[in-house]
Formats: sequence, C-alpha cells, structure tokens
Amino acid sequence: MEEFAGRVAVVTGAGSGIGLALARAFAAESMSVVLADVEDAALEKAAAEVAESGADAVAVRTDVSDPDSVAALADTAYDRFGAVHVLCNNAGVSGGGLSWEIPLDEWDWILGVNLRGVIHGVHAFVPRMVAGGEDGHIVNTASVAGLVTTPFMASYNVSKHGVVTLSETMAVELAMVGSPLGVSVVCPGWVRTRIHEADRNRPGRSAGAGDGGEPDPAFAAMRGVVEQWIAGGMDPAEVARQVLAAIRERRFYVKTHAAMEDLIRQRHAAIEAGADPPASLPTDFTAN
Ligand SMILES: NC(=O)c1ccc[n+]([C@@H]2O[C@H](COP(=O)([O-])OP(=O)(O)OC[C@H]3O[C@@H](n4cnc5c(N)ncnc54)[C@H](O)[C@@H]3O)[C@@H](O)[C@H]2O)c1
Repeated sequence: MEEFAGRVAVVTGAGSGIGLALARAFAAESMSVVLADVEDAALEKAAAEVAESGADAVAVRTDVSDPDSVAALADTAYDRFGAVHVLCNNAGVSGGGLSWEIPLDEWDWILGVNLRGVIHGVHAFVPRMVAGGEDGHIVNTASVAGLVTTPFMASYNVSKHGVVTLSETMAVELAMVGSPLGVSVVCPGWVRTRIHEADRNRPGRSAGAGDGGEPDPAFAAMRGVVEQWIAGGMDPAEVARQVLAAIRERRFYVKTHAAMEDLIRQRHAAIEAGADPPASLPTDFTAN
C-alpha cells in the first residue's frame, strides 16, 4: 500500500508503547486513526494527543481477548469511516516462568490477548477488508519470540509463534485468492515500552503468581533483568517507522533488531540438522 493520506488505520494496544507510536505515525501521514485499548485513561490520553496533531482520531475501549468487543470495534470503525485500510493487531501482554509451572489461568490470559486477540482482529476485520476490494495492509505484532525459543517464556513464545504462522498462512492465502491486501508480521527484540508491567491490565492477579496466587521469586528476579533490557531497548517510534516502510514496500517480515539474526539462523540450522533446540537468550536484543 503506497498511499496513506485520507485512509483509515485501526490500532489495538494504542494506549502505550508500539501501538501509540503506530497511531502517531499514521496520523502524521494524514490518516484517520481508530485507537483501541483496554486501559481507559491511557487510551483517552493517546486519542486526545493524536487528535491534537490534526488527525481524525476515535478511541474505542476494546478488550481484544473478547470476540464481541473486537466485533464492536470493527462495527464502530466501519460505521464511522466506511472502510479500514490498515489493521494493526498489536495489543499484547507478557508473563513467564518454567513451562510446567505457569498457572493455567496465566496461559489463558497470555494466549487470550496475544493469540486470540489477533485471531479476533482477523475474524472481525479481514472479511470486510477483502470484500471492500481496496488495497490495504494487515500488521500483526508478534516478537522475535515468535521466531526463536527463549527459556522461561513458554506462554509468550507459544502465543507469538502462533501469530507468526497465522500471519504467514494469511499472506499466502490472500495472494492465492488474488486480494490486493498485504500482510506484515512485526518481530521486534526489546523495545522501550511498558510491556514488563503488562499485569497492570490483567483481570484478577499478577503475572508470575503461582497457582496459590503468591508472587514467584524467580519470576520477580527475571522481571528485574527484563526491565533493564527494556530500558535499553529500541525507541517504539523507530519500530513504527520500520512498520510504515514495510507497508509501503509490501514486506512481510519486519525484523527490527539485527542482533536477532544469528539466533534465527541457529534455530533453523538445528531444525535442518535434526539437532537439539538451542536456548535463544535475548540478552543483546537491545537497540541495534
Ligand atoms: N516491548 C518489547 O520489548 C516488545 C518486543 C517484542 C514484541 N512486543 C509486542 O509489542 C506489542 C505491543 O506491546 P508494547 O511493548 O508496546 O507494550 P505496552 O504495554 O507499552 O503496550 C501494550 C498495550 O496493549 C494494551 N492491552 C493489554 N491487554 C489488552 C487487551 N486485552 N485488549 C486491548 N488492549 C490491551 C495495554 O493496555 C497497552 O496499552 C505486544 O504485542 C508485545 O508482545 C513488545
């Protein structure tokens, strides 16, 4: 998609981080922007800022893990603007721990937001985007965790590998049916956002709590380390810049951090060789 001005973008998770940077970048291209988020105050603030920049901006409180909420978001976007040209399924949350110790309700939360959230976006919007017949683009935010396997992040890894393969499948299928829609999957390393505080939006209890609800000390320690990596991470505005370039160039994989390439190669080499899976430690997925 080469022409942005006058067209319509929908961004989930637009209240913070990468989603807010995407909303700002689309507004700067004179697009109308529908901002969706579950966190009311952050959403209203983000929408007000985007509107102040001169864009037509609409805030729609949305819980992407709820299919009815995402269907209502699509209805609002189409009622208001009559079309959607760029759909960013971006909202996401994080958690962690040893695979076999992650409580089932944490699996439900992470998969509900990160994977079902994207599925709900695809289900609610893409049939209408295909029927509209115009060119446009679907952007799904995965992570480098969707391309490699990092220990202590099983629920997040499973959700992001799911987003990558859903995006790949959809790109192939849209080409097969002759649709002009493009697809990109965004696979960043560390980005300077509030992802490490994702449990601020978790219904019930904190991420990393054990089955009894008590905080897990290993998770708390890991969170401290991750906080430092995130503080040294890429500016979300740079991720947004790369996403807009990928939309323009119709590029599928948006791999923002050069340092991840070796880890991707190591995983693929192990698969080809039938070797054991490498532990992909994301210590250097910082700002490069
Ligand atoms: N920050 C990183 O290092 C990094 C790296 C790779 C991928 N990502 C991915 O980028 C995406 C954006 O995250 P971010 O880093 O900007 O974090 P962030 O926490 O700053 O922003 C995420 C936004 O999603 C919203 N959200 C959470 N649950 C929601 C729900 N159920 N429905 C709707 N909105 C919800 C939050 O309120 C928040 O505004 C996520 O999918 C994340 O997994 C982040």
